[in-house]
Amino acid sequence: MLEYRKLEARYGGFTALRDITISVRPGERVAVFGHNGAGKTTLLRCGLGDVDDVSGTVTYNGDPIIPGSVYRNARKGIGFVPQGHNVFRDLSVAQNLRMAGLLHDQAYIDEVYRLFPVLLERRAQIAGSLSGGQQQMLAVGMALMTRPTILMLDEPTTGLAPVIVQDMFRSLIQINETTGTAIMLVEQNVAAALRIVQRAIVLKTGGVIFDGPSAELARHEDMWRWF
Ligand SMILES: Nc1ncnc2c1ncn2[C@@H]1O[C@H](COP(=O)(O)OP(=O)(O)OP(=O)(O)O)[C@@H](O)[C@H]1O
Ligand SMILES: [Mg+2]
Repeated sequence: MLEYRKLEARYGGFTALRDITISVRPGERVAVFGHNGAGKTTLLRCGLGDVDDVSGTVTYNGDPIIPGSVYRNARKGIGFVPQGHNVFRDLSVAQNLRMAGLLHDQAYIDEVYRLFPVLLERRAQIAGSLSGGQQQMLAVGMALMTRPTILMLDEPTTGLAPVIVQDMFRSLIQINETTGTAIMLVEQNVAAALRIVQRAIVLKTGGVIFDGPSAELARHEDMWRWF
């Protein structure tokens, strides 16, 4: 369980998050919504200890997430797919996956290929020449190479065609259902994402304004005014 307790995060004199008390349970699928600058990326980064100036606590399965120690925190089982297509553009698909899994069992590559067959087809292709959707699948595959128990994704579908968005969401459900990996998904595609998560969290200017079942948010008549 990933637990934020009264978390505040600052950049210089600016408070980006305040009084955040939320949690993501083992195996749960949760979406985080909010307008640009609401603090969604900061929320994920705090979960990995990637923001230094914080107060309050974040714990993962009871262990404190230590601000500034991303590497140690990630080893607790946290996978992270940052905003943008974060792949090594000059390496092949297979080399990217091997890089991401350096400290892990290489056999896991086969599981990533099972999940994203297109990566197996294109394993020898230079990553920079993949389509946007294929690069994003590779970025997710790379995060999976660390065998996370929670996978955080920061707007993984930005710029993808609707049919590819659906493919990506299907893959996330498959990851979640076959491995039990919890999913914490930051998304702008609110309507589509609401259909694949169990719970939603909405941020507005650094605070939580909704935390509840996704069906309840979908029913909220004035929901669209929040974004
Ligand atoms: N490194 C930084 N230094 C200073 N301010 C920052 C930094 N990173 C983020 N901020 C500010 O903190 C606030 C929250 O930013 P954050 O990136 O978390 O928002 P977001 O919800 O992810 O937005 P978007 O939808 O545009 O990705 C914004 O006002 C942003 O300008
Ligand atoms: Mg962001």
